[in-house]
This record gives sequence, structure tokens and C-alpha cells, in this order.
Amino acid sequence: MVKSLNLCEKLIWVSRQNVRPGVWMAVNSPSDSGLIEQAKPAMKISIIVATDQENGIGKDGGLPWRNKADLGHFSLTTKGNGNNAVVMGRTTWQSLPNPPLADRTNLVLSTTMQEGKGCRVVRSVEEAIAVAEGLSVEELWVIGGRKTYEAFEATERVDKYVVTKIDGVHDCDVWYRPDMQDFWMQSWHKIEGGDVIEWVRAE
Ligand SMILES: NC(=O)c1ccc[n+]([C@@H]2O[C@H](COP(=O)([O-])OP(=O)(O)OC[C@H]3O[C@@H](n4cnc5c(N)ncnc54)[C@H](OP(=O)(O)O)[C@@H]3O)[C@@H](O)[C@H]2O)c1
Repeated sequence: MVKSLNLCEKLIWVSRQNVRPGVWMAVNSPSDSGLIEQAKPAMKISIIVATDQENGIGKDGGLPWRNKADLGHFSLTTKGNGNNAVVMGRTTWQSLPNPPLADRTNLVLSTTMQEGKGCRVVRSVEEAIAVAEGLSVEELWVIGGRKTYEAFEATERVDKYVVTKIDGVHDCDVWYRPDMQDFWMQSWHKIEGGDVIEWVRAE
């Protein structure tokens, strides 16, 4: 059915399929009718974070609280269909009790680390995105900490936030306030000890 459309109709069709400009530029090439069927949805980039009621996220290089329900939610959400990657800063990587995180490609942002067991070290946000796209990752989850969240926010490529608001105010030394300016709340559900809220980019 797609092959019977003229070029203009194809461009409209492709632009509705959530593909990035780089992909639908290819439709303009002489062999556009073949390429259009290879166009795949763009990789999603999502931020997942747990903050207390005052936006605290970390303490002494680790998490300020123990919340099993949130760890379970984090694991399920970031694994997705089994074709996802997580990207984290060096400090967060060094805080993991059993690295790498299973069933996900682990990318670590660092300018100082040479390599790490079970992870791929990337030197910039752009490199992280390129590596994940090269691996045909479905969803790239940005899992912190603050420096890493803010570096990804600066690219304006973030599609979604999944925020756990942990009950109470905890003793923290790192804070992060997600930048929700262009996002609207899509869903909310309760877990033990907190609330999980999902925000998506407003069209
Ligand atoms: N509550 C939560 O959901 C949550 C989630 C994750 C982490 N945390 C907590 O957050 C705290 C750590 O946060 P953080 O902000 O201090 O550290 P971080 O983001 O985990 O790591 C910072 C390091 O990552 C590298 N990095 C960050 N941005 C980079 C960029 N654009 N390009 C190249 N390298 C980059 C640098 O490593 P080099 O110095 O090697 O260059 C930097 O020193 C910990 O307490 C952790 O437990 C909380």
C-alpha cells in the first residue's frame, strides 16, 4: 500500500511514523520506495529517576533510601522488551553493587575511565546516543546521576521522564529537579513508599 503513494504522500506518511529527520531524508533518494519500508521508529531517550519530596537523589555516592518496590520498578521499566540500553555517569556506575545491570546494554559516561567490566565507556552524550543507535537499541534509559541527567536534557532529545517521588525528605547531598517545561503528565501510579509519574513531551 505504501509503494502506491507519491513522494509527497510518502513524506507525510513517514513523518507520522515517529522517525527522525535523518531517516526520512533517505526517502528522497532515487530508491525511496525501497527505503521507505526499511524506515524504523527512532530510538527513544527516556530519563528515569527517584527523588524525595525536595528533589534529593543521592547521598555519599549512593542512594539515600532503601526502597525495594522502586528498585523492582526500575529494573522492569529499563529492561523493557530486552532491547534497551542504560546510560549512567561514572559516579553512578561506581555505586552499583553488582555491575553491570543485567539484560541491558550498559553505557558509562566518563572522560577519565579507560574501560569497565560489562560496560562500554563513552566520552560524550553524543557518543552514547550514536553507540546506542548503532546497536539498534529500542529505548535508551538515562539513569543518572544529576550531571548525566542534565547533560542529556541539554540535547533536547529526551522523549519521556519516569519519576518516582519517594515519600518524605531524606538526608541527601545531590539534588536534581527534572526540567518538565515541555512535558505533560501521562500516567501516575502508587508503589510502596512513593508514587511513579510518567511525563511525555508535549507535541
Ligand atoms: N535517585 C536516583 O534515581 C539516582 C539515580 C542515579 C544516581 N543517583 C545518585 O546520584 C549521585 C551521583 O550523581 P552525580 O551527578 O554526582 O554523578 P554522575 O552523573 O553519576 O557521574 C558524574 C561523572 O560522569 C561523567 N560525566 C557526566 N556527564 C558527562 C558528559 N557530558 N561527558 C562526559 N562525562 C560525563 C564524569 O565522569 P569523569 O569524571 O570520569 O569524566 C562525571 O564526573 C550518587 O549519589 C548516585 O547514587 C541517584
